[in-house]
Amino acid sequence: MFLTGTMKINDQGHLEIGGIDTLELVKDFGTPLWVIDEEGLRRNCRMLKEAFARWGDSVVAYASKSLCNMAICTIVAQEGLSLDVVSGGELFTALLAGFPAEKILFHGNNKDPEEIRMALQAGVGRIIVDNFHELELLNSIAEEYGHDVDIMLRITPGVEAHTHEYIQTGQIDSKFGFTLTDGQAMEGVKAAVNSPKLNLTGLHYHIGSQIFDMEPFRHTTALMMKFIAQIKEETGQEIYELDVGGGFGIFYTQGDRPGNPEDWAEAVMTTVQEKARYYGLTVPLVIIEPGRAISGPAGITLYTIGSFKEVTGIRKYIAVDGGMTDNIRTALYGAQYSALLANKADQQPVETVSIAGKCCESGDMLIWDIRLPQVESGDILAVFATGAYNYTMSSNYNRLPRPAMVLVNQGCADLILKRETYADLLRNDLLPDRLKNR
Ligand code: LLP
Repeated sequence: MFLTGTMKINDQGHLEIGGIDTLELVKDFGTPLWVIDEEGLRRNCRMLKEAFARWGDSVVAYASKSLCNMAICTIVAQEGLSLDVVSGGELFTALLAGFPAEKILFHGNNKDPEEIRMALQAGVGRIIVDNFHELELLNSIAEEYGHDVDIMLRITPGVEAHTHEYIQTGQIDSKFGFTLTDGQAMEGVKAAVNSPKLNLTGLHYHIGSQIFDMEPFRHTTALMMKFIAQIKEETGQEIYELDVGGGFGIFYTQGDRPGNPEDWAEAVMTTVQEKARYYGLTVPLVIIEPGRAISGPAGITLYTIGSFKEVTGIRKYIAVDGGMTDNIRTALYGAQYSALLANKADQQPVETVSIAGKCCESGDMLIWDIRLPQVESGDILAVFATGAYNYTMSSNYNRLPRPAMVLVNQGCADLILKRETYADLLRNDLLPDRLKNR
């Protein structure tokens, strides 16, 4: 189940991805190494696009927060997707990669004036306004530029999706969006309609991430359609776009039961269409913003196994040459991963071990209790589904340089992110003169 895209076990019993033996990748690029399966990534883009297109007008905007760099933005643009960005940095990357500005949606709960100016100058397609402060700020900056700006409003629907508390976003007590249940959302709509430079085209919700149950999508979409009807009745304003966010869950370990994109498409699109009929509304264009579902399964991380520690009768720790600096999700969310030994991929598991990172922190664990073949120092561990929220959440804790990232396809491997060097770590360090001469 974790062998997705072009991954397979080759005749030597090694893990292969993009037509290349992972041991070759290790020889050429070292470890830790993020590997992105280009074909897998493209397939995921197409699968989602096709699933929604089958039901009607829809746009897939890839959530770049899950994995963002020049190469990834380029591939996503080639696949004809739109792009969700949440910061000046993501926007800058996308623009530099040549992503069409009109296909970029700019999110974020505290966009600063510089970021807003950058977005307006570039001509991004939509700004998703998160709060009253931003409505005013955006309107006044739009006045400087002298042109109208198409916006959507982020609505907090008051829906709790069953996922980790830190990656739920639809609940009332959330820093995001205009609350639906206390009238704030309607106030926000009226303020937007009355902002001379802002053109309200749509509404947006995002209820959380790594969601398997489609019911919250169905339910929230229905709430939003009801709200759209109320808006029309109270203000006469038509809403032409409904952006239902991302959150589609993927397979990490045996306990995970992801649906397929058709389930998500069916839940959202049929609800939109039924409710449009029911309330006598024009069917809005549906926008989805999957991040993890596109980038997650397309990535693996390769590590070299180093030291061991056995706590008698309790646990065997095995340490790799990376850790929470390249994948903080286990430490932060208790996330679980599947892995295998890339050089012993055809061997049966014989022992239960726990995979530790190399940072000075007890919580720096990648996998608790995984069954593997006999593990030896020098073996290569491949961790699956690390394409999303690994690189983009990475750090230099303990002054560890970040790994390289390589893009593989049909036997070719291209570096798309250079391995950081110690010099890179010092790049921004400054030593004031007064400290030098003591
Ligand atoms: N749209 C909006 C407005 C979002 O806030 C997010 C994710 C997405 C789309 C994409 O969600 P996805 O399809 O990737 O689930 N760092 C956490 C995930 C945080 C997601 C934040 N927002 C993790 O590692 O699980």
